[in-house]
Amino acid sequence: MVFLKDKIRELIGFPHAKIEYPTEATHGDYACAIAFELAKQEKKSPRQAAEELMKKIKRPDWIERIEIAGAGFINFFLSPKFLTAFLAEIKKEATQFGQSDIFRGKTVATDISHPNVAKPMGVHHLLSTIIGDSLNRIFAAVGYKVVRDNYLGDWGTQFGKLIYAYKTWGDEVAVQKNPIPELLELYVKFHDEAERDPNLEDLGRLEFKKLEQGDAENRKLWKWVVDLSLKEFHKIWNRLDVKFDFIHGESFYEDKMQAIIDCGIKEKIFVEGERGALIAPLDDANKPPCIIRKSDGATTYATRDLARVKYWEDEWHPDLMVMVVDMAQILHFQQFIEVAEKLKLTKAQNIHIPFGRMQFPEKRMSTRKGNIVLLEELLDEAQEGAYKIVCEKNPELSDKQKRAVARQVGIGSVKYAVLAQNRMTNVTFTWEKMLSLEGNSAPYVQYVHARACSILRKQDGKKIVSKQEYILKEPSELAVARLLPKFPEVVAHAAQEFKPNLIANYLFELASRFNTFYASVQVLQAEEDARAARLALTESVATTLKNGLALLGIEAPEEM
Ligand code: ARG
Repeated sequence: MVFLKDKIRELIGFPHAKIEYPTEATHGDYACAIAFELAKQEKKSPRQAAEELMKKIKRPDWIERIEIAGAGFINFFLSPKFLTAFLAEIKKEATQFGQSDIFRGKTVATDISHPNVAKPMGVHHLLSTIIGDSLNRIFAAVGYKVVRDNYLGDWGTQFGKLIYAYKTWGDEVAVQKNPIPELLELYVKFHDEAERDPNLEDLGRLEFKKLEQGDAENRKLWKWVVDLSLKEFHKIWNRLDVKFDFIHGESFYEDKMQAIIDCGIKEKIFVEGERGALIAPLDDANKPPCIIRKSDGATTYATRDLARVKYWEDEWHPDLMVMVVDMAQILHFQQFIEVAEKLKLTKAQNIHIPFGRMQFPEKRMSTRKGNIVLLEELLDEAQEGAYKIVCEKNPELSDKQKRAVARQVGIGSVKYAVLAQNRMTNVTFTWEKMLSLEGNSAPYVQYVHARACSILRKQDGKKIVSKQEYILKEPSELAVARLLPKFPEVVAHAAQEFKPNLIANYLFELASRFNTFYASVQVLQAEEDARAARLALTESVATTLKNGLALLGIEAPEEM
């Protein structure tokens, strides 16, 4: 799929010109401000530069008109004939519509989800999972080869504490039965007791040392805890339909850190810090140094991340390494990414995709004792809410169908609430908004998709595209059609900026315009040619909404 944006750049003869989407329909479909730059270079007014440029542009058929607006913007209006013909293009591309090749030949490796074993998956892990999974899907749609990894938190001194706690107070049957809450309780108990008896810290460290040195009992316990936790995490990943190519947890890098340490010492990038610690000072002396090895000899979270970068490089040679992690860890990423660059561990661009604090309704999900609400309960509640909507909207469905749709809508509503936001904003979601059929929500977009499908089902066997004599002309038809060629461009933009919300907002706009269209003109009752064109438009919208939702990891039921 060739982007119209690129064709316009070609047309004006500036392959790198910035092309924008005007917010007002009266300003056309695409706008270019290149005349302002030319004016500066050529020492004339932008208006004059625009007029001169206009003379050189040969208007092709697919553009209806080109206008100069304001002080020197050049606006391009797509022709209704082109927009009508484009519907056949969408039909041809079908499930592939929206995809492009702009990153073909490139590889991206991603780290998403990464919960910590022996603890419940936290909200920030859920956010990383949802945002990261959508990015994985978007990357694939623009041609990247995507390697989906998951840097599970399964290593570190805390496991020594947990092992000590288990050996001292643990109960095998209870842990087996209810693993994560029980393990969490043990962990919390360790901290409470350690406040009274500081010796415990040393005992915990000792257990970790034994674990590191391969002590059979500790290894077995640790492995048991990892397996129990993974079983729980897999339930959530399955429910969210999130897949990984690899789960290389932190423990995977245990034997890969010494090489990094040796290299850093040799290159004098690592130096001795306080009390025998090994540190990597950063260029910005105001930032704390990256700790490579603590004074007790234990390696750190950062050292493991460095070993991971090297492993990823050696294994997949990615062009891009993307880590989707809570903004609370911005400093950690700045630190180890700078050190990774100094060590020349990879030529790939290392990118931390942070996100803000988002909270779900009525539930406090913290890992502190007492108020753990497992994410599964949140998903249950979303599905329950969605079930009520489905019962109300479509009582004729069988209960089995209702449950199936409620699952798609409920899970979709949670994902959409996260993805439609600017990642960095702090928001508290409410069920009311998440499950609203009126607002910017999954059920709204899904409902419009289902409505389009139902119109298509009712076309009583007549062929959709007629002789194509009818050219879209009603304002409400054109308003929908004009958005469609932009879809692949929006997907590409979302990939470049790591922003799934660009797609969510596009879908909301498309769904809203479709509703207006459907309310203003006849579709099934229209006369022959208009009917065919409007059905083709309806089908294009259904395809686009479905493909777009898929990029957000959201299903699009045909009935709702
Ligand atoms: N497991 C970590 C945590 O929950 C997040 C890991 C993020 N990824 C990374 N490459 N450091 O805090």
